[in-house]
Amino acid sequence: MKKEKLIKKYDKQVKIYENKRTNQKLAGWRNKIIKNAYGKVLEVGVGAGANFPYYDRDNVEITGVDFSSEMIQSAKRAASHFQVNAEFIQEDIDELVLEDNSFDCIVSTLSLCSYPDPIVTLNKFNKWCRKDGIILLMEHGLSSNIFLSFGQKMIDPLHTKISGCHCNRNINMLIENSNLQVDHIERYWSDIIYLIWAKPIRL
Ligand SMILES: C[S@@+](CC[C@H](N)C(=O)[O-])C[C@H]1O[C@@H](n2cnc3c(N)ncnc32)[C@H](O)[C@@H]1O
Repeated sequence: MKKEKLIKKYDKQVKIYENKRTNQKLAGWRNKIIKNAYGKVLEVGVGAGANFPYYDRDNVEITGVDFSSEMIQSAKRAASHFQVNAEFIQEDIDELVLEDNSFDCIVSTLSLCSYPDPIVTLNKFNKWCRKDGIILLMEHGLSSNIFLSFGQKMIDPLHTKISGCHCNRNINMLIENSNLQVDHIERYWSDIIYLIWAKPIRL
C-alpha cells in the first residue's frame, strides 16, 4: 500500500485508537511491559498515546514518533492529560534519522504489523538503543493454533486493506531474524500477543 494512503487510513482511525486506550485486556499487558521503561525513551508508532498512563512518569523522557498527524495531535493531548514528559516527531520510521546509541529504551506496541519491512525496523531499534538499554515490545501476530493461523492468513489481505495492519506476521521469526537478543518473552491469546523484553546486540 502506498505510504500516503496508509497515513490517511491511520489519520481516520484516531478515534478508534483513542477508544482502545481503555481496553482492559490491553491495559494489563501495556502496564506489564511499559512500567519497565526508563530514561530517554523512543516510542515508535506512538498512535494516540495509549501507553502513556503506564509509564513511570518521574523517570522517563519520551520521544514519540508517528507518521500520522492526527495520531500525533491525539498523543500530544494524551501526554498533557497523563502528565508525561514527551516530545513528538511526525515522520515515517523508514525515513527517520536518529543518532546511534541515543535512547535508553525503545518501545513499540502493536506497530510491527504496519511496517513494510519489520526486520529492518527492529534493526534500527538495535542501533538507536544504547548498548546497556532495553527494547520493549508488545506485538500481535500469527497464532500457534493452526486453525486460528489459517483464519489469520485468509483474512490478512482484507484486514490490511481496511486497517493498514497485517494480522499474519510471524513475530518469532521476525525477532529471530533481527539483531535483537531476547531476555524474556511472554505469549497470550494462543500466542497472538507477544510481550518481549530484549537487548540490542552490538555487531
Ligand atoms: C496499530 S497502531 C498502534 C498504536 C499504538 N502503538 C498502540 O499501541 O495503540 C500503529 C501506529 O503506527 C503508526 N505507523 C504505522 N506505520 C508507520 C511508519 N512507517 N512510520 C511511522 N508511524 C507509523 C500509525 O500511524 C499508528 O499510529
